[in-house]
Amino acid sequence: MNPAFNEFLQSSQQRCDTALTEWMERDHCGAPQLLAAMKYSLLSGGKRVRPLLTYAAAMAVGGINTATDAAACALEAIHAYSLIHDDLPAMDDDDLRRGQPTCHIAFDEATAILAGDGLQALAFELLATAPGIEAATRAQLMAQLATAAGPAGMVGGQAIDLAAVNQQLTLEQLQHMHNLKTGALIKAAVLMGAISAGASEQQLTSLARYADAIGLAFQVQDDILDVVADTSTLGKPQGSDISHNKPTYVSLLGLDGARAKARDLLNQALAACDALGNEAEQLRQLARYIVERGK
Ligand code: IPE
Ligand code: IPE
Ligand code: MG
Ligand code: MG
Ligand code: MG
Repeated sequence: MNPAFNEFLQSSQQRCDTALTEWMERDHCGAPQLLAAMKYSLLSGGKRVRPLLTYAAAMAVGGINTATDAAACALEAIHAYSLIHDDLPAMDDDDLRRGQPTCHIAFDEATAILAGDGLQALAFELLATAPGIEAATRAQLMAQLATAAGPAGMVGGQAIDLAAVNQQLTLEQLQHMHNLKTGALIKAAVLMGAISAGASEQQLTSLARYADAIGLAFQVQDDILDVVADTSTLGKPQGSDISHNKPTYVSLLGLDGARAKARDLLNQALAACDALGNEAEQLRQLARYIVERGK
């Protein structure tokens, strides 16, 4: 791995983890079990891909500031909540996440549901109250995150995903589902980073193209890894999609077809960076990392 990119990965992951840990140290509630479950899922590692995209997008258009940190933390809180609920028995019913028992196994189902609810609200509390963010920027960040996390984004995609169990989807329907359930939050990560750094309309247009491509590529690669990686590398159960008979890029296109799709999307993301110049180098490297991870 390119040393400058490796340094970017480590410093950004650490920056986000430090900010999240400090945020969770605040006395958020009088229910220790709930707080423990929230910390368990939020601070248990993970690649921090969404924060990395937020930081890289801010770097591409002007630089990181306190609004970038708030955006990165809020995105990761929403992501952690989405994983807790995604693993529940009523959804994917998975018992392993990041190499550890999932939240409802380590605690119990009701606590896991509430931990997800709590993290979702905390994400918006964080964006609404973090000091030093200009009012218009704060409103834009909150609107981006709310739309991406809600029924027109992640939650809508999760609903389509559940309805698709044992069903055949067309490629178009599958792409729509992936764009919502995973792409929307990834796109928000890129755009929120850019907004935090005061991006121009033109820069936002290029970044939206980048984010559309890489957001879809991320879930295509997740589908591929569900088939080709092993449980210990993944830190989550290999074969979960197959065992639940979920339509995925691999089930529709085969492994080679899914890999070709991921490569095509990577090229689209890289092409979108052309207009952004050298400052977009970490975004380019991240796009490669997303598509090549776990190979
Ligand atoms: C997993 O996301 C869920 C999907 C949207 C595919 P990540 O692969 O980003 O999970 P962590 O945070 O690194 O564990
Ligand atoms: C998860 O998709 C999407 C969200 C959590 C919103 P998956 O169900 O494929 O994610 P993993 O494979 O369990 O991480
Ligand atoms: Mg799922
Ligand atoms: Mg799942
Ligand atoms: Mg998956």
